[in-house]
Amino acid sequence: MDKAQNILFSLFLCFSLVPNLLYISTLYLKPGRRPELDGKDAAEVRAVASIWCSGHGRAFLDGFSIDGKLICECNACYRGHDCSELLPACVVDADNGDPLFLEPFWVQHAANGTIAVPGWHRISHHFNDGLLISNELKTRIRKLHEVTGNAVTKERFIIFWSWCNPTSQCCSAVHALLSSDPSLSRVVASTPHYPEQMEFFNSSGYKFDGDTFLYNNQIDSEGNFIEFVTSPNNPDGQLKKGVLRGPFMKRIHDLAYYWPHYTAIPAPADEDLMIFTLSKLTGHAGSRFGWAIIKDEFVYQRMLTYMLLSTYGVSRETQLRVLKLLNGVLESKGRELFYFEYQTIRNRWKQLSRILSMSKLFSVQELDPLLYCSYYEKLRGPSPAFARLKCEREEDENCNAVLKSVNVTGRNGSLFSAKSRSVHLSLVKGQDDFDLLLERMEMLVSEDKSSKTREQSESIANVSVWNASYHLEGFASEFKERSEGLLDFDSIL
Ligand SMILES: Cc1ncc(COP(=O)(O)O)c(C=O)c1O
Repeated sequence: MDKAQNILFSLFLCFSLVPNLLYISTLYLKPGRRPELDGKDAAEVRAVASIWCSGHGRAFLDGFSIDGKLICECNACYRGHDCSELLPACVVDADNGDPLFLEPFWVQHAANGTIAVPGWHRISHHFNDGLLISNELKTRIRKLHEVTGNAVTKERFIIFWSWCNPTSQCCSAVHALLSSDPSLSRVVASTPHYPEQMEFFNSSGYKFDGDTFLYNNQIDSEGNFIEFVTSPNNPDGQLKKGVLRGPFMKRIHDLAYYWPHYTAIPAPADEDLMIFTLSKLTGHAGSRFGWAIIKDEFVYQRMLTYMLLSTYGVSRETQLRVLKLLNGVLESKGRELFYFEYQTIRNRWKQLSRILSMSKLFSVQELDPLLYCSYYEKLRGPSPAFARLKCEREEDENCNAVLKSVNVTGRNGSLFSAKSRSVHLSLVKGQDDFDLLLERMEMLVSEDKSSKTREQSESIANVSVWNASYHLEGFASEFKERSEGLLDFDSIL
């Protein structure tokens, strides 16, 4: 080949190579083709999960670090680099309802709750159908209600909420109901309830008008009320029905606790407007996820508009996480999760009741009678998230002050527009908090002169309750049998 041919050949090679290289690069770098994940995320999760915090704390992916190493975040009464130091005089907070009792469940079922969210994932404002709500998640929520039997979702509209205190979720619902009937202007709820949340509804368009029972017998109860019905109720755990009657009044049913771990499920709720929150179902309070099930299309559309104009929907990451969690829950038709929750809360009731029965210092709220539960297919009693104690000694007018003497803070009964002689203790906090609560309550009752011996109180095995007695023998024997291996998992569910 002479020199001229050489140059020609090189030029030809260049011209053919360049388009080929460009073609290959567009093939591999074109939008839509993503590089493989390198497993770094999984390694990070494994590394943080393996940090030892003595069972009294946890390290988090976004937690504190020292010299680039993540460190333990200790539970309230523990300190030290591995959370092994107990602070004996610390204050035990039994006030808030942070559902940390579910943390061990999700540690055990880590794979059912872990998601990896790559940087390119759903960065759009919308899903592909232009909507803000994952259809797949909506389907899973319907399925969950179907297997639990706690709410009718067929031919109902579902909307998600990211900020789901009763106030916020209900704001949109109240707003929607007001637009459906402008004559509605008064909001009521039955005591005990959280006044500060209800008083939020005092505005120019409507006002909070107090306890439902004030209007029960009035002619105008047929008029312009929006009634809040929380069932089971927070804080007393009772199943509630609407009180007011009339063709024009509307109701919002807060069914946050209408799950088989808190109450019997006698029948699926089929109300016009029902709201739920993830936190009372799986414990993921921090995900701020709730949903409403709505019969009337107009009300649904108004709630949708409210969502569009306020938050523009729930973050896609949250929806993805909830989808993952619910898929895991549905694998066993809810049995594993509900079993864990039911067992834990009932066991806590049993332990607390046994201690309280040692003296006459306190009585506990009257619980609803046994009801047939369609989920467990048997009669069962309620296992509310809060215990409501009443101080029985005449001198103990401020019940919370009695608890404060052993460094326990509960929620004052007067906060719920209820009697101030009562105090509410959360039974859904983490195990450390609950163990310390029991320890302190035991100190309190054993100091009381009227205390019975432990043997006496255990033989009684039921506590005195307001106006009636709710027997805990059922709880006690069932747990005894289970701990002795006499009862198997399936016979409970
Ligand atoms: C009856 C009721 N509904 C809804 C909520 C809202 O729960 P969260 O803020 O954990 O989603 C609560 C919280 O305690 C509640 O008690």
